[in-house]
Amino acid sequence: MNQRRENCEIPAATGHRGEPAGLHIGVIGGGQLGQMLGLAGVAMGHRFTFLDPGYEPPAASVGRHIQAELDDSEALERLSVECDVVTLEFENVPLASAELVARRNCLMPGPQALAVAQDRLEEKQFFEGLGLGLAPWVQVDSVNDIVQGIRHLGAPAILKTRRMGYDGKGQVRLADSSHAAHEGGPGNPGEAASAWEAIDGAPAVLEKMVDFEREVSIVAARSRTGEICFYPLATNLHRAGILWETTVGTGDPLQSAAEEAARLVLEKIDYIGVLAIEFFVQDGRLLVNEMAPRVHNSGHWSLGGARTSQFENHIRAILGWPLGDPSPAGWAAMLNLVGSLPDARAVLAVPGVSWHDYGKVPRPRRKLGHLTVTAAEPGELESRLDRLKSLVAPPDA
Ligand SMILES: Nc1ncnc2c1ncn2[C@@H]1O[C@H](COP(=O)(O)OP(=O)(O)O)[C@@H](O)[C@H]1O
Ligand SMILES: [Mg+2]
Repeated sequence: MNQRRENCEIPAATGHRGEPAGLHIGVIGGGQLGQMLGLAGVAMGHRFTFLDPGYEPPAASVGRHIQAELDDSEALERLSVECDVVTLEFENVPLASAELVARRNCLMPGPQALAVAQDRLEEKQFFEGLGLGLAPWVQVDSVNDIVQGIRHLGAPAILKTRRMGYDGKGQVRLADSSHAAHEGGPGNPGEAASAWEAIDGAPAVLEKMVDFEREVSIVAARSRTGEICFYPLATNLHRAGILWETTVGTGDPLQSAAEEAARLVLEKIDYIGVLAIEFFVQDGRLLVNEMAPRVHNSGHWSLGGARTSQFENHIRAILGWPLGDPSPAGWAAMLNLVGSLPDARAVLAVPGVSWHDYGKVPRPRRKLGHLTVTAAEPGELESRLDRLKSLVAPPDA
């Protein structure tokens, strides 16, 4: 068994003496993000092993698959020992698993980034420590905290479990509308109790609902060498808590503010790889919502829409290779295919479209694939998107 390499050194991919040039990359998780990382990495000469509990998960089509739970220490040990470097495509990897891998090999991003991103309370405190603006919020550990929280923040508000939330899961909206007035005014105990019950009394945070102008996200990559690049700010539209549409262009007025925030985050935790940060835009200013320590759905447009995709840049970043140009090749958008797939031929008859099918069994609210569409100018992009939207159903509740 090899010992953990000093300073997380990665063998050079030189291909001398006729050996294959590429490296063996381990990935914790084997969903569609792993699949797209694999597609990008295989094209650069690397090979992949994915650790995933599923039977034939999407990434199994582009590498070796170890079928095991993410807390299976034997499987984690095997992944660490057999691969040259390990990364992840799922942020809720148990912290103990991430620490086990990080002791045996290089895990990028590392456990610190996961610890922050897995817990909404820690995440908010981390952002506040960096001086970033957030929606007003309070910590919730009881029904009473919700009642007091609504009094303090005002309604409407949104209750979110601290852990394991994604695609709107683990969230309850509290309207606390006028009927609350004759049941004791703001902070209606009945509504608070049912919200608390709906999240099974899990530790949570309560946030004021932001009446945002739009939602945006920035995808950034930071290499082992410290080099950083930023993708253009993405504007995101959610439906029923799930990302439905992302559009990007050039010259967004909030680009540099988002880059500054992302740089602070990346450098504070010495982050390596691709990271995404989601924001609300209110009164023309950014309020941080959350971050994802991995490639992100709002960066999928880069596959075909940017000169270098987020997937390729993640691989380059963790290997310490120079980062590729993240700039868009024009105007680009992405539509998620959720719950069911449209007819590929009808979709591909729209010019500038690329089709991505993750090979998953359809299920309500499940992300099955996405479409990227590009155009030379915004008007053309919009008309192509309109055609696509007549063919693709948005996510429903
Ligand atoms: N405080 C808020 N104000 C307004 N909308 C919100 C707020 N929090 C969440 N949302 C809406 O719900 C979506 C999902 O919430 P988010 O916190 O990003 O959780 P996740 O993406 O992990 O499910 C957001 O993208 C946004 O559309
Ligand atoms: Mg989100």
